[in-house]
Amino acid sequence: MKTQIINLEEKENINLIKDIIQSGDLVAFPTETVYGLGADGLNPEAVKKIFEVKGRPQDNPLILHVSDFEMAQKLVGEDLESLMEIGEIFWPGPLTLVVKKSEIVPDIITAGLDTVAIRMPRNEIALKIIKFSNTPIAAPSANISGRPSPTDADTCFNDLNGKIKYIVDGGETEIGLESTVLDLSSDIPTILRPGGVTFEQLQKLIPNVQVDKSILKEGETPKSPGQKYKHYAPNADSYLVSGSEDQKIEKIKNFLDYNKDKKISLMVTSEIYDKFEDLDLEVIDLGSKKNLEQIGSVIFRSMRHLDSLGSDIILIEEINAEGLGLAIMNRLKKSTSNRYI
Ligand code: TXA
Ligand code: MG
Repeated sequence: MKTQIINLEEKENINLIKDIIQSGDLVAFPTETVYGLGADGLNPEAVKKIFEVKGRPQDNPLILHVSDFEMAQKLVGEDLESLMEIGEIFWPGPLTLVVKKSEIVPDIITAGLDTVAIRMPRNEIALKIIKFSNTPIAAPSANISGRPSPTDADTCFNDLNGKIKYIVDGGETEIGLESTVLDLSSDIPTILRPGGVTFEQLQKLIPNVQVDKSILKEGETPKSPGQKYKHYAPNADSYLVSGSEDQKIEKIKNFLDYNKDKKISLMVTSEIYDKFEDLDLEVIDLGSKKNLEQIGSVIFRSMRHLDSLGSDIILIEEINAEGLGLAIMNRLKKSTSNRYI
């Protein structure tokens, strides 16, 4: 199969994409978080192809993407009131809501659970594709399972070339990290995966919102099936670097001294970048630790880039797990299998 990257500026392309979705095939497309690998979410045969192409474990449920509230309502069993209340504030946007499912949601979407994850993205291209296809679109991130999520069309191409017909190009994604997954089906609203909408933002609206224990502490069993898998991993061995700024600098310098035979690359904040920029190695400036949006938007892209340069080891500076930092550190801990120097 030949994989083509197209864009929706040519008017007839939206009809092409609509036909692909409605005929039960797959399309990769941009959202404001990461690129998704989409299929008609109400067609189990189409959804099955997503699992096959990604090599995704069958017990990991998918998110259904909708373009309006009417489409969302049809997917919800109970919990409609809470979905509407929260959705009206945060949708369209990087928040996925888990609610009791209605009968029309296929089992393959929910991996047999009685709940379904729903999101209304705010990316214009995503909304247009869902609207024209006139069906909720099931879409995980458009990468081979376990790899860092793609934030541009070329990265989707690298992972999916030969496996799907079309990738819709929408440039680099705005947020660069996946959506926050919020479970509204249990007694206490619970963040199952931190993401583009922060705990602090949700807490203003839902004072009793909590973060699933497994996100705050290693070793707890996650409530969200997807959280238990190795994820977001670059090919290079990677490690987080903790401590005060001075300690981090010293740890990295020592590590470089002891591993002269290895190609080591760094991902560090602007605050310590200049300590390494003159050395003969790849150093990525993630941006200031005060600008978490900036850091969030480049972590996956940076790992992919350093992999493409053949790095043996990537050292990544730890940041504070507050605000968007919770989502960033969640991804980085998975990428590094929680290994620190
Ligand atoms: O930003 C995003 O959410 C991207 C873009 C493409 O929209 N999508 C994405 O999908 O990240 P995926 O499949 O990589 O992650 C979906 C997460 C997984 O952790 C999965 O376990 C969880 O949502 N999930 C889906 N349905 C669920 C359910 N019914 N109960 C609990 N967790 C669920
Ligand atoms: Mg994913």
